[in-house]
Amino acid sequence: MELEQAINGRRSIRGYRPDPVPRALLEEIIALASRAPSSMNTQPWHFHVLTGEPLERVRQGNCEKMLAGVPPQREIPDHGTYEGVHRERQVEIAKQLFAAMGIAREDKEMRQDWVMRGFRQFDAPVSIVVTFDKSAQMHGTIAHFDLGAVTFGLVLAAWDRGLGTVINGQGIMQSPVVREVAQIPDDQVIMTCVAMGWPDEEFPANAVVSRRRPVEETARFVGFID
Ligand SMILES: Cc1cc2nc3c(=O)[nH]c(=O)nc-3n(C[C@H](O)[C@H](O)[C@H](O)COP(=O)(O)O)c2cc1C
Repeated sequence: MELEQAINGRRSIRGYRPDPVPRALLEEIIALASRAPSSMNTQPWHFHVLTGEPLERVRQGNCEKMLAGVPPQREIPDHGTYEGVHRERQVEIAKQLFAAMGIAREDKEMRQDWVMRGFRQFDAPVSIVVTFDKSAQMHGTIAHFDLGAVTFGLVLAAWDRGLGTVINGQGIMQSPVVREVAQIPDDQVIMTCVAMGWPDEEFPANAVVSRRRPVEETARFVGFID
């Protein structure tokens, strides 16, 4: 697949077929993503690839704690509530997803069901928990940049092989559960997880294409003649 085609065609996938994903394919995807640039080539990332019973335990523990009202326990600072234009864009994508799924604004039950799907990592057969070396925290937030780069590589490499993904902060809201089940070493910080699997072509939300700000709005060109 051409790079441009992969970048333009990729979208978050939130409905999966249950079929397993071969380990060799996941290794290939991680190897390709690992070509990402990082600050001074430090490569502070680690990938914990979960499937089967351990992933079920993560889903269950995450959902139970969220339902019980335990406040989110993330290992990176919480983004809190978005405001202004950021909030507007958040609402826009939520409306697109709810419209595709036929979830009405006032349908609290179905909205809650959608939120729970997120906490269950959309029932994907694989979850890649992405972590970074705790020692990197001495150098500010630069490791977050490195992990963003490698995670975009993961989702593109997966898409190139016909696999869908969604970067899924909801799936690790209760990070102590993930840490315990996946035996994450103490010298690593959990950044996020990427739910992955073969897309369910019938799942309506998978067709949603989120809008992007145009270049005229995001870019300034300085020193150009025309
Ligand atoms: C850091 C990060 C965390 C995310 N967490 C979630 C999440 O918890 N649940 C979800 O449904 N989507 C999540 N997403 C996916 C975004 O909603 C999605 O990338 C965005 O709406 C743009 O849509 P697209 O990926 O289809 O282009 C996350 C994306 C990023 C980068």
